[in-house]
Amino acid sequence: MKVVLAYSGGLDTSVMIKWLQEKYGAEVVTVTVDVGQKEDFGEVEHKALRLGAKKHYTIDAKEEFVRDYIFPAIMANALYEEKYPLSSALSRPLISKKLVEVALKENADTIAHGSTGKGNDQVRFETTVMSLNPKIKVLAPVREWNLSRNEELVYAKEKGIPIKIKSSPYSIDQNLWGRSIEAGVLEDPSLEPPEDAFELTVDPTKAPDNPEYVKIKFENGVPTAINNSYLDSVSLISYLNELAGKHGVGRIDHIEDRLVGIKSREVYECPAAVTLIEAHKELEKLVLTKNELMFKQLIDQTWTNLTYDGLWINPLRLDLEAFIKETQKRVYGEVKVKLFKGSVSVVSRSSPYSLYDVALSTYDSQSKFDQTLAKGFIEIWSLQTRAAYNAMKNNKLEAYVQ
Ligand code: ARG
Repeated sequence: MKVVLAYSGGLDTSVMIKWLQEKYGAEVVTVTVDVGQKEDFGEVEHKALRLGAKKHYTIDAKEEFVRDYIFPAIMANALYEEKYPLSSALSRPLISKKLVEVALKENADTIAHGSTGKGNDQVRFETTVMSLNPKIKVLAPVREWNLSRNEELVYAKEKGIPIKIKSSPYSIDQNLWGRSIEAGVLEDPSLEPPEDAFELTVDPTKAPDNPEYVKIKFENGVPTAINNSYLDSVSLISYLNELAGKHGVGRIDHIEDRLVGIKSREVYECPAAVTLIEAHKELEKLVLTKNELMFKQLIDQTWTNLTYDGLWINPLRLDLEAFIKETQKRVYGEVKVKLFKGSVSVVSRSSPYSLYDVALSTYDSQSKFDQTLAKGFIEIWSLQTRAAYNAMKNNKLEAYVQ
């Protein structure tokens, strides 16, 4: 048996290298996909090889992650249950794709990942792998071995697996689109997350006393420049993470419905994601019609749920994106946001495709909106409502009549 293992360098997947060798006599190839987590990839490789991996791959997928996953999420204003920008969820299909590529190259028959049996990530990894290559078997050792953290530590000690002395009390997953923080005291939803849970964002009460204004340019619905400088996509997201994080923007704390039915308390910090989605939404309001905005909300939500639920490669996603991309042709322009003590607010927006017409909306008397027409409009607009109300009243349908 030859296994390609998604390797993070953490305790679970390190134990896995040994466990796969011992339990299955497997040959293990490890893969670490760089999606923008802060990691010493040389060290991760070294650790994998020392624990017995036959070969290790470090794959830089940052650009692909932004282009093919983050950008569509911005276009879809993707916030699961109105809060979560899908940072972890978006990376899973990409990591799966890379694992399948390595498995093919290495002639491996099995792919293993470190997700538990209780979360969404197992569903995302396995749905993608099974669809991309039905011949590959999937192993989820954590789901099988059922070790408590202590048992795992004992096993690690026995096998000479290095354990960080000051290991984090949290379970972390990080990439360019944000950082998920789970476990430990966060499991009690009645308690405020302690400050040590956060890394990308400063405590909003300690953020700078002066607000910072940032101008973001969008073209075809995606950000291309910050403060008039064009940046490559990866640098743009990283830079915004820094800027917004410095002002404490992007902290999220909510109760989330996992696909497997569990309600969980989730804490995230996603400074760039929160800022960009807020700016993008506001620009859309300037350039899209009311009809488009209403319909797009439904499309966006469906796209977001599909992604959260691990169905990235379901054809419906691309069907929805066809609609979304069509609308984004006009999502071009500039948005200025104000970052201040944990909040991001849009303070200015402009676009050559703007539908806003001050000559119509102004309260000044020179408005070109002919108010005399409103009278007739209301007559017609209210026709059926008035008729129905009176019919109910005449028939004494009390429940409907005040
Ligand atoms: N609840 C989030 C999701 O399902 C975050 C998952 C984070 N994963 C992790 N291994 N800590 O997308």
